[in-house]
Amino acid sequence: MASGKIIIAIDGYSSTGKSTFAKLIAKGLGYIYADSGALYRAITYFAINNGFIDMDGKILKQSLKRILPKLLIEQKTNAKGETNTFLNRANIERQIRSQRVSDLVSYIAEVDFVRDYVDVILKGMGVQKGLVMDGRDIGTAVFPDAEVKIFMTASDEVRARRRWEELKAKGEAVSLSGVLENLKRRDKIDSTREKNPLCQAKDAIVLDNSDMTFQDEIDWLNEILTKRFGLFIES
Ligand code: CDP
Repeated sequence: MASGKIIIAIDGYSSTGKSTFAKLIAKGLGYIYADSGALYRAITYFAINNGFIDMDGKILKQSLKRILPKLLIEQKTNAKGETNTFLNRANIERQIRSQRVSDLVSYIAEVDFVRDYVDVILKGMGVQKGLVMDGRDIGTAVFPDAEVKIFMTASDEVRARRRWEELKAKGEAVSLSGVLENLKRRDKIDSTREKNPLCQAKDAIVLDNSDMTFQDEIDWLNEILTKRFGLFIES
């Protein structure tokens, strides 16, 4: 750990606030933030637009496999600290957060060659350390040697309400029950797939944030980081 920088891996169920927490940590430490789910979402968005997946989640795997290496998927953080996802140089950040993409992303993320493709990109981001990455298999498969692993959870109701508010604020007309159903379905597919399913790494620390504010979460992590690494997240 020559640079003194570490990797912080954050995994957990859908809509547990992983990305918001990860962004705050990265900003406060001056680290890079990476959203692994956005890559699966970008591929899903591409697959929907090009007819590689139907509304029941059936995928034309051979065609997708052929075209995947030709895609350019990037994540860039702008001067305002906002992270955007680009597909072939077009900003698709808003599109990949739609309910339509959420409905299908876990089918795409089950496919072995998709996971292999995404893993190569993700691993490349960790070479210099100084990284906070959130997802489902970051502490178990992408960075099994990450210095800090956090497994986030929150009650189903809290998670659904948070995501519903978020979508409503963006003008998407979705029902609370529809959002809840989507979260549960994704959690089930993500936890039961064969390759690198969502599960808690043995050495991960659990954070249930059902009743916590963002500041509570930062305070909680600062205790651990200060003690173990002499690091402090400025907020
Ligand atoms: O933000 P939210 O919790 O809704 O999910 P996300 O992080 O955007 O991830 C979307 C989906 O991508 C998940 O439901 C998983 O199916 C998949 N994913 C994965 O399989 N492995 C990861 N490391 C990250 C996401």
